[in-house]
Amino acid sequence: MTKNTRTIAIVNQKGGVGKTTTSINLAAALAALGQSVLLVDLDPQGNATTGLGVKRKTENTLYDVIVEGTPLREAQVDTNVPGLKLIASDMDMSGAEISIGASEGRTTRLKLALQTYLENCTARNEEAPDFVLIDCPPALGLLTVNALAASDSVIVPLQCEFFALEGLSQLLKTVEMAKGSLNPSLVIDGVMLTMYDKRNRLSEQVAADVREHLGRAVFKTIIPRNVRIAEAPSFGKPVLLYDPHCAGSKAYMDLGKEVLARHKKAIKQGKKV
Ligand SMILES: Nc1ncnc2c1ncn2[C@@H]1O[C@H](COP(=O)(O)OP(=O)(O)OP(=O)(O)O)[C@@H](O)[C@H]1O
Ligand SMILES: [Mg+2]
Repeated sequence: MTKNTRTIAIVNQKGGVGKTTTSINLAAALAALGQSVLLVDLDPQGNATTGLGVKRKTENTLYDVIVEGTPLREAQVDTNVPGLKLIASDMDMSGAEISIGASEGRTTRLKLALQTYLENCTARNEEAPDFVLIDCPPALGLLTVNALAASDSVIVPLQCEFFALEGLSQLLKTVEMAKGSLNPSLVIDGVMLTMYDKRNRLSEQVAADVREHLGRAVFKTIIPRNVRIAEAPSFGKPVLLYDPHCAGSKAYMDLGKEVLARHKKAIKQGKKV
């Protein structure tokens, strides 16, 4: 492989903590910073797919890739963001865990599909993406395990609310398990605080607590609660295209720069972070 593509899973088994919002907007920010990005929608809810304005029924979806063995490149679709491609998902994915559950290699379906895709890019003299982001469903089941097996690193979005840290130890245990049995070089890029409300003292307190517990594992960038971020998906756009100057766009650009900086050294050296 000539290019060192970085694959990042956006994971938290808690629902509604900002995984999809971060996947879409971090992907768009990295693309705006000149990176080519492939976003893989691993969630049967298909929120990353609709949030990027892609119709639910694309010719091939991630289901075809994971269950039927369709090559990933045949499921790749363009988005309205230059430099950002998508592997779409829809409700079919909800049957994927059952379909592959008893098969050999059930934990490495996505990993192998991505590996073949990246190798074929090189063989065809096509540019492989700089980053692959995987938007995970709110569960620690087989789909998320596939993402952990396929990734170089993990980003964990945490909502700035009282129960933010609950469930985090379970998540960290699952990452350790994936590391031990499937993917020894997997690392946690960082925990990312989101939906921060500066008028709410609880937000401030949660952010301080999380930093105290997790130290440098927490991204410097905090994503504010911002209505433009919440509105953007109904227009099928990342917030950067919907309202480039709002606080949400600025924060996701900062996050993009931070992620890029964390990975740059590894990209240069051809190493894991
Ligand atoms: N920074 C933010 N400011 C305001 N609203 C936000 C922000 N981030 C996310 N939201 C909103 O919060 C809700 C949950 O976000 P999102 O869908 O990204 O979470 P998720 O973790 O992907 O959820 P699920 O677990 O169901 O996949 C959405 O309505 C989204 O628009
Ligand atoms: Mg989601």
